Amino acid sequence: MNYIGSKTSILKYIDETIEDFIKPETNDLLFCDIFAGTSAVGKYFKKKGYSIISNDIQYYSYITAKHFIKNNNDLDFEKLKEKNIEPFEYLNKIEPKKGFIYNNYSLEGTTGDEFERQYFSAENAKKIDAIRVQIEFWKNKKIINEKEYYFLIASLIESADKVANTASVYEAFLKKMKKSASNNLELKPVEIIINKKCKKLEVYNEDSNILVNKIKGDILYMDPPYNTRKYDTNYHMLETIALYDNPEIKGKTGIRTEQIKRSKYCIKKEAINVLEELIKNAKFKYLLLSYNDEGIISLKEIETIMIKYGRYKLYEKEHKRYKADKKRTYLKNTTIEYIHCLEKLNDDR
Ligand SMILES: C[S@@+](CC[C@H](N)C(=O)[O-])C[C@H]1O[C@@H](n2cnc3c(N)ncnc32)[C@H](O)[C@@H]1O
Repeated sequence: MNYIGSKTSILKYIDETIEDFIKPETNDLLFCDIFAGTSAVGKYFKKKGYSIISNDIQYYSYITAKHFIKNNNDLDFEKLKEKNIEPFEYLNKIEPKKGFIYNNYSLEGTTGDEFERQYFSAENAKKIDAIRVQIEFWKNKKIINEKEYYFLIASLIESADKVANTASVYEAFLKKMKKSASNNLELKPVEIIINKKCKKLEVYNEDSNILVNKIKGDILYMDPPYNTRKYDTNYHMLETIALYDNPEIKGKTGIRTEQIKRSKYCIKKEAINVLEELIKNAKFKYLLLSYNDEGIISLKEIETIMIKYGRYKLYEKEHKRYKADKKRTYLKNTTIEYIHCLEKLNDDR
């Protein structure tokens, strides 16, 4: 998924930074990815055998992490097999159904409404609705277990995202149907990561600054939003597919009206305070903060905070810029990705 701030392309750099700063002698470490997003970082360190705590305030991120991080066995869909049903084959052939996504986010479903929207083709919107309803039905009837449920929802979120008629995020849809959005949605299984060396795998859906008071471990990796682009509005569609809760929505973009997930990390006046609070309360020996040179908190401000709590070192690397809007002209093609590293001294873990 093309996710704002995704660290998929700098995983090795994060790993090398850990090797250099911490020099771990074992992989038997507890690593917390407290702003997990796509789970890219958690997945990488799960593959290395670290224990993982994963967290994100957005539900779509949580539910996909429940699969990528928490699921640690093959999934056999025993009850469906007893009925001779292969889930992906079945769901891919399902009769499309008009539901919330069709009625609110396809042109056919919104024609004549106050706001006409075209996030998905009518066929794909109906398919998303039908698949989502079927998965919930199987779960409610206990035909699939929780693990299988998370696997299917994670697969639906990724597959739906591939046929969305957007430039990348869901802040807006395109006027004309783009080629990939005209393709038929195909529900593809996402990867299952199994690593029996991981002693602990936990997933949360909380505000980072609340969760931090309840956990402890070795490495806290912090990758908060670094600008005012909010994840709740940019990914409202994924949130609705994940929750499928018939939310109240508003305006041309059809975003959810709830504001509860507004992150303080996206608000200039508040970001620095919540970051310091997080660092102060963290009961982890090592803290790593990813932030780039265009973030709303300056390099100097971060350094000033971190230095108060122990040994500090800054790593930097030039990185290809994330372009959410392919049509926009960006001033620079690269950004500098910083990793601020702190070894907390005198903490009371
Ligand atoms: C820069 S992205 C993380 C990207 C992730 N490392 C990846 O590679 O996909 C920031 C994430 O922080 C989450 N977030 C924002 N504010 C939060 C908060 N207060 N607590 C927990 N998660 C938060 C957002 O939902 C978003 O997924």
